[in-house]
Amino acid sequence: MSRVYNFSAGPATLPEPVLQQAADEMLDWQGSGMSVMEMSHRGKAFVSIAEQAEADLRELLQVPDNYKVLFLQGGATAQFAAVPLNLLGKAEVVDYVNTGSWSKKAIAEAGKYAPRVNVVAEGGKSDPMSIPDVADWQCDPQAAYLHYCANETISGVEFHDVPATAGDVPLVSDMSSNFLSRPIDVSRFGVIYAGAQKNYGPAGLTVVIVREDLLDRASDQTPSIWHYQAQAEADSMLNTPATYSWYIAGLVFQWLKREGGLTAMAERNARKAGKLYEAIDASDFYRNPVHPSARSQMNVPFVLADDSLDAAFLSEAQAAGLHTLKGHRSVGGMRASIYNAMPESGVDALIDFMADFERRNG
Ligand SMILES: Cc1ncc(COP(=O)(O)O)c(C=O)c1O
Repeated sequence: MSRVYNFSAGPATLPEPVLQQAADEMLDWQGSGMSVMEMSHRGKAFVSIAEQAEADLRELLQVPDNYKVLFLQGGATAQFAAVPLNLLGKAEVVDYVNTGSWSKKAIAEAGKYAPRVNVVAEGGKSDPMSIPDVADWQCDPQAAYLHYCANETISGVEFHDVPATAGDVPLVSDMSSNFLSRPIDVSRFGVIYAGAQKNYGPAGLTVVIVREDLLDRASDQTPSIWHYQAQAEADSMLNTPATYSWYIAGLVFQWLKREGGLTAMAERNARKAGKLYEAIDASDFYRNPVHPSARSQMNVPFVLADDSLDAAFLSEAQAAGLHTLKGHRSVGGMRASIYNAMPESGVDALIDFMADFERRNG
């Protein structure tokens, strides 16, 4: 068996010990005589898996008691609709920050349900790209909530801190691509949501963390499966949940705890991203288009000074065991996604390859 370094933006690389444990338990989960995939979601065995996963996630993120943790389906894209459906209440307006492609998709979906979507700030267009200063955001104090994308997976623009907004409008964040990459203060948020397939599991699962006092605002039209209160009351089992993805996410949470939790992850991620950006900045051959204050620690896009070398870069990288480095089709160039599960040795190998490629082609 030989595994490659997989820089895919998602579905993305998973920790090897997690995959190994899943393989060991595949045919017979802990003496049950069956695979987790074959278990009833209402049986004792799966309920214990689900409860342990929630407990471990709560511990990792220090989720306060007045928050529900939901394990839903439909990806973050479902949440683009679920957020306005659940939170609009009697309000006439919702606030959104636009920092790139994923913000835009969330804004477009909110427009289907909210009478007015107020875009408080536009980022992502400047060169280098940056996040507009929070002091300049044109927030509406009547808004039902303020939404932002914590990490724009495509352009590699990340909020390094929770924006310090004034007033008590609930903050909602799409953390799909940097969830569990560092500690966060959950009490600052009304809702946090994140699809699993980047930083904590296989596709098919989306964690939603929601403050309890926001559970009574849902529109009557909200589909039951995305109705936060209904799902909270049903322990996220209003219908058959994504059992296997939930189980693997649980194994990832245990792996994170063994690795030292989110503080250790934050240090590791800062080191990995720091050395990759340093290598890019030290060269005229490669360039990252994001201002240092907003550079993502998870997704590092870069372009070659001569884009006619892109195809050679990608094929030679692949031959060297460095896979899925092609940038998103909307921006081109390269993108290295270096989530929690990407070992530091993978980043080192990429940096060495880049230096060697530059020597041969620069
Ligand atoms: C930041 C962000 N939000 C939303 C999505 C959409 O997620 P999904 O495909 O799980 O609906 C993605 C995924 O690619 C993403 O990176």
